[in-house]
Amino acid sequence: MRRASLTQFLIERQRAGRINADLRLLIETIARACKAISTRVNKGALGGGHGSASSENVQGEIQKNLDVMSNEILLEANEWGGNLAALVSEEMEDVKPTPTHYPRGEYLLLFDPLDGSSNIDVNISVGTIFSVLRCPPGVEPDEQVFLQPGRSQVAAGFAVYGPTTQLVITVGDGAYGFTLDRETFTFVLTQEGIKIPQDTAEFAINASNMRRWEPPVKRYIDECLAGKDGPRGKEFNMRWVASMVADVYRVLSRGGIFMYPRDSKNKDGRLRLMYEANPMAFIVEQAGGSATDGKTRILDIRPKKLHQRIAVVLGSKNEVDRVTSYHANSQ
Ligand code: AHG
Ligand code: MN
Ligand code: MN
Repeated sequence: MRRASLTQFLIERQRAGRINADLRLLIETIARACKAISTRVNKGALGGGHGSASSENVQGEIQKNLDVMSNEILLEANEWGGNLAALVSEEMEDVKPTPTHYPRGEYLLLFDPLDGSSNIDVNISVGTIFSVLRCPPGVEPDEQVFLQPGRSQVAAGFAVYGPTTQLVITVGDGAYGFTLDRETFTFVLTQEGIKIPQDTAEFAINASNMRRWEPPVKRYIDECLAGKDGPRGKEFNMRWVASMVADVYRVLSRGGIFMYPRDSKNKDGRLRLMYEANPMAFIVEQAGGSATDGKTRILDIRPKKLHQRIAVVLGSKNEVDRVTSYHANSQ
């Protein structure tokens, strides 16, 4: 049986009235940029992508060469497309409206060009995360226009550059996975209607922060670690890749809970609401999972600023509900 390409899948979605031609072309453009980034990642030290650039990003983090390259690839691909009113990325200080001499579209694009960049030089999976919002007609696309809650997203997705390059997307009717066929250089549909199991015995958290966690998080992890003899009465396994794309891809594939909670060092959490938490929460919910900041559904949070950080608890529904209830009980 011949499998559908991303192009065929998107045409199908357009015929079904789920997306318009502009959104279809926008997703195609992002996917093309992800293929180019995948090639760069694949070249490793041979492509000049290893090592740090001499610059810091807006968050005060040292940029890796591949952070800068990936950001440029996505910028270049999208500037001309005619589908965007403006874009913004984790690596840029300000919103970038489409220049007035180019055609302007109705969408706003937000992205984390290279997620997990501490893993580049050690040959562990990294990725790209994106989120698409709508720009109200006739409105100048400044920072304010971007500050929409995650439930307003019209599309979201992420690529993982791992042993295979995978692309996961949603346009609001389920989550779908594609594998990059390196021979034809096309994304091919390989995971249809992804479903995250409701229960799991696998958690992902950076345990080096344990002494800084809030009591509900400490309680949840302690109970998992107690295994069969503890209150949960079963053994748990732990994984932490330190690339959100890889950890979330695993959760989508076989279930699990992924947490980057707020702690006494990262008071607002570590991950970024607009470039990481919102798009991942949209995808996870579309796959039947849940995503909260420990208390509130992520997609309902009204952003206050572009580069806002947030606590993230996502994945298998019953485990996320448990963590959320521990927070509620501790108030
Ligand atoms: P980025 O490379 O875009 O800054 O994001 C890295 C994020 C995320 O991918 C991962 O889950 C987390 O940071 C890892 O944090 P620790 O290094 O604290 O484990
Ligand atoms: Mn990231
Ligand atoms: Mn990044």
